[in-house]
Parts: sequence; C-alpha cells; structure tokens
Amino acid sequence: MDKDLRLKLAVQKSGRLTDPSVDLLVRCGLKFSRGKDQLVGYGENMPLDLLFVRDDDIPDLVQEDVSDLGLVGLNVIEEKRLELAARGTAARFEVLRSLDFGRCRLSIAVPDGTLFTGPDWLRGKRIATTYPYLLAHYLAERKIEAEIVTLSGAVEIAPRLGRADAICDLVSTGSTLVANRLHEVETVLESHAVLIRTPVALPAVKNEWVERLLMRIDGVQQVKESKYIMLHAPRAALAEIRGLLPGSESPTIIPLDGHPDKVAIHAVCRENVFWETLESLKKAGASALLVLPVEKMLA
Ligand code: PRP
Ligand code: ZN
Repeated sequence: MDKDLRLKLAVQKSGRLTDPSVDLLVRCGLKFSRGKDQLVGYGENMPLDLLFVRDDDIPDLVQEDVSDLGLVGLNVIEEKRLELAARGTAARFEVLRSLDFGRCRLSIAVPDGTLFTGPDWLRGKRIATTYPYLLAHYLAERKIEAEIVTLSGAVEIAPRLGRADAICDLVSTGSTLVANRLHEVETVLESHAVLIRTPVALPAVKNEWVERLLMRIDGVQQVKESKYIMLHAPRAALAEIRGLLPGSESPTIIPLDGHPDKVAIHAVCRENVFWETLESLKKAGASALLVLPVEKMLA
C-alpha cells in the first residue's frame, strides 16, 4: 500500500503511557513489528504504523501533521494549549477520545514537615516544575504571585538542592514523592490519556481506518467493565430480578423445558457484577448464576 495511505499514530517511547497505549492497540487487533531502531512499529494487519516518540513532542507532531494520531496525557496537551495561547495561537490538534488509562494528577508538593496552610502559603515561594504554563494558570486564578522555576526534568530533587521551596509535578502512585520526602498539598489538574488527531483532512481510506479504530477503542473500553450474566429465575420474580441486573438494557428471557414456572435470563451487564449483586439476585429467587467475561463488543 502507498506509504502515504498508512495511518501514523504517535505513542510515548518510554514512560507511564507506553505499555497501556500498546496494550490498547493490541486489544484493538493490531499486530506490529518494531524496526531495528525501535522508533517505528509497523502494523502487519492494519495500515497503521506507530511512532515511538517523547510524549512532550506528541501534540506538535500531530498538529503539524507529521503524525495523524497521537496517544498522550491530558497534562501534556493542556500545557501545550496554554503555551500556544500565550504566544497568541490556538492548538490545532483535535481530541477524539478520553481514555481510561494513564490516570494521574499534576500536583503541588512540599517537603515533609512543611506547615502548609493553603494555597496562600505559596506566595513569594519558588516552585519547580516542567509544567510552567499550567502552574502559572493555577497561580493566576488564585491571584498568587510566586516564582516559577522551569526545569526540564528531575523536579523532585529541586527542594533538596535548595533550588525551590515546592514542586509542581505529576503524581501517579506517589512513590516518587515518598522517596524524595515530599507530600502532595494541592491538585492543579486531573489527567488521563487522550487520543488526538491532526487538523488536516485525511484521504478517505485513512479516515475509514480512523473510524474503525475509534469503534474498536470504544468496544475495548466498554468490555473492560462488562460481564455476561446467566441465571434461572422464577417467573414470579422476573421484574424484581431484572431490576437488580446492573446496567443491562434488554435481557434475553428463555423458557426452561419442563419448568413452566421458571425462565433463564441472559444479559450483558455494562457495569461490574459484584458478589453483593449476586447475593441479592439469589435472595430474589435466582439460581444457577453464572458470570462470564466479555471479550469483544460492537454496538
Ligand atoms: C512522572 C513524574 C514523576 C513520576 C511520578 O513522570 O515526573 O517522576 O511520573 O510517578 P509516581 O507517582 O508513580 O512515582 P512521567 O513518567 O510522566 O515521565 P515524564 O514526565 O518524563 O514524561
Ligand atoms: Zn514527558
């Protein structure tokens, strides 16, 4: 196939989003082989190639149409939006989907033992960060003047080196903060991964694959929580039992041979089925309960 008709999707080269991004694409059916340089993943069964790049570069690669799509943290694109706004331009990438991985927050943290009294404590302090625009926005909204120390990495050691009184950095598990004897005091932004696309119109073939990918991503996100549930129920308790099935629209009701007073119910539950739910179902008269994972789903 013509090289220009293959979709390019930028993903983080190495970091928190790398494994879950690749995992999502594999669940969407993508099989790919990584080139010698490890920088490109060639799709074998879809006209889609992966570009492994620094996450901070993804918004630009996408809005400058080097890559058609990108998987990146909301924190990165919001910082980019503010940076562009400060330069008098608007971001040109388009957010297609919010994804349910890469959850983290951009937070302000101070050294353990600090008597933090609230955002006002930050007045006149030095705050180290790699997110100067998001931090400036947070401070401006609260009319707090502070010195932003912009670093390109290793923000967590700035207080120990005497370069800052506080930091503003991403927190995921929190272990980086603990290891550096810092603790979170304020949340600047809640973040998760998003899928973005180029502002440039794509040829029909490529667009079709973007649509197919979106449909598969939606399917993958839905099945994560979904379960297929099967049970036997007394006809008399049908209404009550249907009401107990979490997030299911129209269950299939099947007569049971030799048991005119009973039916079998099969339903897809779009929410997790907990032990408590099964217990309530049993109390309402259900028996032979079976809960199965759903592998794929297409609405
Ligand atoms: C972030 C952040 C911290 C770490 C926090 O880096 O800069 O170092 O994750 O995670 P934890 O709370 O689980 O310890 P990230 O992996 O996003 O890399 P990057 O900022 O260099 O892109
Ligand atoms: Zn980064």
